[in-house]
Amino acid sequence: MKFFLDTANVEEIKRVNELGLVDGVTTNPTLIGREGKPFEEVIKEITGIVDGPVSAEVVGLKAEEMIKEAREIAMWAENIVVKIPMTEEGLKAVKVLAGEGIKTNVTLIFTVAQGLMATKAGASYISPFIGRLDDISADGIKLVADLRKLLDTYDYDTEIIAASIRNINHLEDSVAVGAHIATIPGSLFPALWSHPLTDKGIQAFLDDWKAYEDKLEDK
Ligand code: G3P
Repeated sequence: MKFFLDTANVEEIKRVNELGLVDGVTTNPTLIGREGKPFEEVIKEITGIVDGPVSAEVVGLKAEEMIKEAREIAMWAENIVVKIPMTEEGLKAVKVLAGEGIKTNVTLIFTVAQGLMATKAGASYISPFIGRLDDISADGIKLVADLRKLLDTYDYDTEIIAASIRNINHLEDSVAVGAHIATIPGSLFPALWSHPLTDKGIQAFLDDWKAYEDKLEDK
């Protein structure tokens, strides 16, 4: 199971990367926009920090525009993956880019059919959006499970990036149904290693230890 960070915030990436737990990074135009810095500058900075795949998204809507942007973005670093939206034009672009050896992450996947189309077009990764499906009372985790079944049944190499993860349940359920990767917002990362009962347990052990030492001193 690989963990990607879903952020374009360089400080956040550096902090979590120091733990040695970041296998890659995903960004999107919204996340890049929040940083208020030039796209190329941010992506190059991130690719210099993280060894694994870094997704950077195109904004063109026509296949030719996407291909042009993707070819340029792919030259920024060796570990770039170009994020392409799940549209008919996007599928055309993925096919061409796959032929050129450019890795793609097809984003905004909401059905198995979309996942299948992207996979057949040659996507390296597909990104089902769990949180956004749950927002409309659909079942985001079931989609991830069904996509995994599809990839295994037909022996495709495409990997699933469970995206739009909003809470620990989304993450744990993605693990349970076999997502290859989960991309997690930086804000959620600390919740992966913390639990109130862990903190409570540590405090109780320290209190007991103190009482034990005090007792020894009294002897
Ligand atoms: O990876 C996609 C992610 O950034 C979308 O998350 O929370 O905006 O649905 P969200």
